[in-house]
Amino acid sequence: MIISIVVAASAENAIGDGNALLWKLPNDMRFFKNLTWGMPVIMGRKTFESMASRILPGRINIVISRNPSSLPVMDNLWAASGLEDAITLAKTTDCNEAFIIGGGDIYRQSMALTDRIYMTRVHGKFPTADTFFPSFSNSEFKLADAVDMPADEKHVHAYTFETWERVDRAAL
Ligand SMILES: NC(=O)c1ccc[n+]([C@@H]2O[C@H](COP(=O)([O-])OP(=O)(O)OC[C@H]3O[C@@H](n4cnc5c(N)ncnc54)[C@H](OP(=O)(O)O)[C@@H]3O)[C@@H](O)[C@H]2O)c1
Repeated sequence: MIISIVVAASAENAIGDGNALLWKLPNDMRFFKNLTWGMPVIMGRKTFESMASRILPGRINIVISRNPSSLPVMDNLWAASGLEDAITLAKTTDCNEAFIIGGGDIYRQSMALTDRIYMTRVHGKFPTADTFFPSFSNSEFKLADAVDMPADEKHVHAYTFETWERVDRAAL
């Protein structure tokens, strides 16, 4: 099973403000849904709450908390006590890819374990942001694909779908 991060971030790595997203990008939501459908998604408790404590349908939702018993009991919600626990649970689904979907705290802890980053780079300035994606270097991840999308009537910001692949550790 490979471990992938899915994130949308500005050039300054802004990802959230006040436990909410900073933009509305319907195409990015569609991309996210198509990518993760049928697969386990791993998130922090705050990200779960940012979705009004509703699970993403069609996916096993693994939510990480230091108090996992405080999480609601729902179909397709699996509580995990930490990242390692979440990954162990994801493996039991027999999927070939598990998706870490945020937020900032969980992304930071996941970088060392991640094989691939699906990054939607949102082209705009977000000065009120209070949550950020960790920076990473070209020696850790190489850009494998980038598709530019213009702003339009439904998307205030232009954005780029980027795929970053972990540099083969053995080749370093
Ligand atoms: N742009 C994007 O792609 C994107 C994606 C997702 C989220 N976001 C944004 O990110 C923000 C939320 O991120 P965040 O950093 O505040 O919170 P978060 O990463 O979603 O969740 C943090 C919580 O996860 C639990 N946790 C973290 N590390 C743990 C560990 N080692 N062991 C056990 N539990 C652990 C803790 O829950 P307990 O306190 O219950 O112990 C902690 O409070 C929101 O603004 C959201 O909209 C953006």
